[in-house]
Amino acid sequence: MAFDYKVADLSLAELGRKEIRLAEHEMPGLMATREEYGASKPLRGAKIMGSLHMTVQTAVLIETLTELGAEVRWVSCNIFSTQDQAAAAVVVGPNGTPDNPQGVPVFAWKGETLEEYWECTETALTWPGGDGPNMILDDGGDATMLVHKGVEFEKAGAVPQPTAEDPDEFKVVLERLRNSLAADPKKWTTIASRIKGVTEETTTGVHRLYEMHRGGELLFPAINVNDSVTKSKFDNKYGCRHSLIDGINRATDVLIGGKVALVAGFGDVGKGSAESLRGQGARVLVTEIDPINALQAAMEGYEVTTVEDAVEVADIFVTTTGNFNIFTAEHMKRMKHNAIVGNIGHFDNEIDMAGLEAIPGIKKTEIKPQVHEYAFPDGHSILVLSEGRLLNLGNATGHPSFVMSNSFTNQTIAQIELFTKTSEYPTGVYMLPKLLDEKVARMHLDALGVKLTELTKEQAAYIGVDAAGPYKPEYYRY
Ligand code: NAI
Repeated sequence: MAFDYKVADLSLAELGRKEIRLAEHEMPGLMATREEYGASKPLRGAKIMGSLHMTVQTAVLIETLTELGAEVRWVSCNIFSTQDQAAAAVVVGPNGTPDNPQGVPVFAWKGETLEEYWECTETALTWPGGDGPNMILDDGGDATMLVHKGVEFEKAGAVPQPTAEDPDEFKVVLERLRNSLAADPKKWTTIASRIKGVTEETTTGVHRLYEMHRGGELLFPAINVNDSVTKSKFDNKYGCRHSLIDGINRATDVLIGGKVALVAGFGDVGKGSAESLRGQGARVLVTEIDPINALQAAMEGYEVTTVEDAVEVADIFVTTTGNFNIFTAEHMKRMKHNAIVGNIGHFDNEIDMAGLEAIPGIKKTEIKPQVHEYAFPDGHSILVLSEGRLLNLGNATGHPSFVMSNSFTNQTIAQIELFTKTSEYPTGVYMLPKLLDEKVARMHLDALGVKLTELTKEQAAYIGVDAAGPYKPEYYRY
């Protein structure tokens, strides 16, 4: 059956399929989920719109969701993060050919414009036949935001004019919603009314959900996948420990050993990033606003300082905060010649790219895609990675399969939970139960040869837990 899709090049599907085959071996949690639920198909009837980096690992997630019975439409949640071979393989499907694709509709390619990005998001939300989506699987909250803004403006009867302060990206969103509401004035309330819930992948998207819920604006229930222990304490930390230096190496091939690297933020991503750079022999400086995280960084042996104090010393700058304006144009003016500046947080505004580009006389040269040299009028330059967007996915291929298996097993379980037990989740933001978190970890032990000690009945009684888990109270922090 013909279906709509938009990817770079279907002839890349064979390469993508080979990489998916290797990834499946490294994703034991997802494969065990297929074993457990493949026959009962708990996601039959689910129409899932996914907005999450279209990588090889995500391909394994998508094909797990379809194996569990779901219909799926997919976009990337970042303009640079798509792996075109993975997108092609998902469209072609395991049994199709480039001339006869039989897989899943994907609308994503590496190097989308912002206009294309938001067009893809709206297209994936616009279900053929009009009876979906009924679930969203989001990373960073853009798909959820588009639906909420659409409903807000529909109810207000108009899309506001952009103001000078609105970021360029929001202006693109406003334009898109203006056009879509002109074509169908009830489009977004209709879409929102069908959605049973959203499962959210990352810290930044989760912040947005809790904010909307506090403001009484959230339209459907959400599961916070990010804060499953087997997600944020693994993907955010060990994933970034792997993929941060991968991005820096592929972008610049500069020797990291002996350099001074500054990591802004010492949360989960910051911890993995700092360790990644230290592992290469860099002298790592950390900045923090939270005294607890600052103390943790100091205890780990990092020098904790401020961007202002270190800006002339560091060779490599990485921001991991999920906050904005961490590296300002004024900071970047003061950096060393050929300092490397990158972001591994979700949105590009961690680095003031607009302020940098607005410096009079600044000259931008593309060294290669996603690596740009900015030459200041005084003759010195800096190198900015992925135009300020997350560099581990823009300059490299993101986190490796094994760690993403943990994250995506949580995603799959969260989709099953919300889709099959909708009435148990009134509008709000929820976490998966700890027993399921422990189950996800358990699914990954054999592959690493881990021998787990079993509690005796007496030991279980002594520490007051069930021998089968959960083993920790909710307030335990790992
Ligand atoms: P987190 O909340 O654990 O850590 C952020 C840290 O930044 C906090 O400790 C906070 O105190 C600190 N911070 C905030 N403002 C700061 C400032 N002005 N200066 C210095 N430190 C500041 O969050 P997490 O999980 O580490 O995520 C951070 C970002 O990375 C989020 O945007 C998240 O969505 C994204 N992320 C990116 C991934 C990737 O593959 N690139 C993977 C996972 C998360």
